[in-house]
Amino acid sequence: MPKVAILEHIHPSGINLLKKNSAFDFEIIENISKENLINKLPNFDAISLRVIKLDSDIISKCKNLKIISRHGVGYDNVDLNSLKSNNITLAITATANAISVAEHVMFMILNISKGIDMYDSAVRKGQFLKKDKYSKTFELWNKNFLIAGFGRVGKILIKRCLGFEMKVYVYDPFVDEKTIESFGGIKVSDFNGSLKNMDYISIHMPLTDKTKNLINSSNLKTMKKNSIIVNTSRGGIINEKDLDEALNKEFIFGAGLDVFEKEPPDTNNPLLTNKKVLLSPHSSTFTEECSERMGKETIQNIIDFFDGKLDQSMVVQL
Ligand SMILES: NC(=O)c1ccc[n+]([C@@H]2O[C@H](COP(=O)([O-])OP(=O)(O)OC[C@H]3O[C@@H](n4cnc5c(N)ncnc54)[C@H](O)[C@@H]3O)[C@@H](O)[C@H]2O)c1
Repeated sequence: MPKVAILEHIHPSGINLLKKNSAFDFEIIENISKENLINKLPNFDAISLRVIKLDSDIISKCKNLKIISRHGVGYDNVDLNSLKSNNITLAITATANAISVAEHVMFMILNISKGIDMYDSAVRKGQFLKKDKYSKTFELWNKNFLIAGFGRVGKILIKRCLGFEMKVYVYDPFVDEKTIESFGGIKVSDFNGSLKNMDYISIHMPLTDKTKNLINSSNLKTMKKNSIIVNTSRGGIINEKDLDEALNKEFIFGAGLDVFEKEPPDTNNPLLTNKKVLLSPHSSTFTEECSERMGKETIQNIIDFFDGKLDQSMVVQL
């Protein structure tokens, strides 16, 4: 009988799938210290994984392990070389989280554009209709929006942007013009060159050697003064020091970050005290609906794997 290790909390409806299935044995592992994982995980055939790091020291000891099922779509916390050399499958929750992330982007751009926090605090401080106290706010209508990375999240986000009647440009060298146009977008090939025309930029690509520091002091300087940039993909794609400087020098109007170069960010990270950036703790998938879908899909992927019917769209090609 396959033994499943559940590392870190997942939604109870995911765990219920295992409770109802007598073909599996499972254990929730609360102590996620490296020492305990090296000690316990070699007994398991499958692992459900959230954000803790599974490095080669741990994976090389897991001689029974056949599948790691990631609760999410990113997998930078797993040593891929070890998975490949030990013939271990890596599954992701490919269909579970794009809607919540796309809604989080809309929430961030609306919050910053409409000055929600500023107005809320003005009412509470007795500054009702004191227009000299308010900073600029913006409409979304007819604005240029650049979606950088047109995968699962980008394709859901474009529908929300078009609903606000924005003009949507897409930068993704791996997606052809016809596909982008079929979603109502306009393909952009020169990323840096396009930035000077954009009012909104939202990042939806993986962190790789090519995308690290993609947004930096050189291109931040070229952007519109009223532009707003949002990153819900991975920290490090926007250089945080350069972003802080660009906001302080008013090269751009605002930014929204759900992800950071280091998570949690250091307490002395200047962005934590910068009022022009809206922050969230890598929480764009924390909605009730998305948590439930992710919990179920993480466990269903394990069950399907052992039943020999895991959908290949859930599998990362190593
Ligand atoms: N904040 C969160 O909780 C959260 C949740 C879901 C996804 N994410 C992250 O968001 C990102 C997008 O997720 P997704 O599910 O849409 O991924 P996806 O794999 O479906 O899409 C990624 C897209 O990026 C494109 N891409 C790759 N390299 C590129 C480059 N150099 N320039 C431009 N485009 C490039 C790919 O062609 C692909 O279309 C990932 O980094 C993922 O880890 C974060």
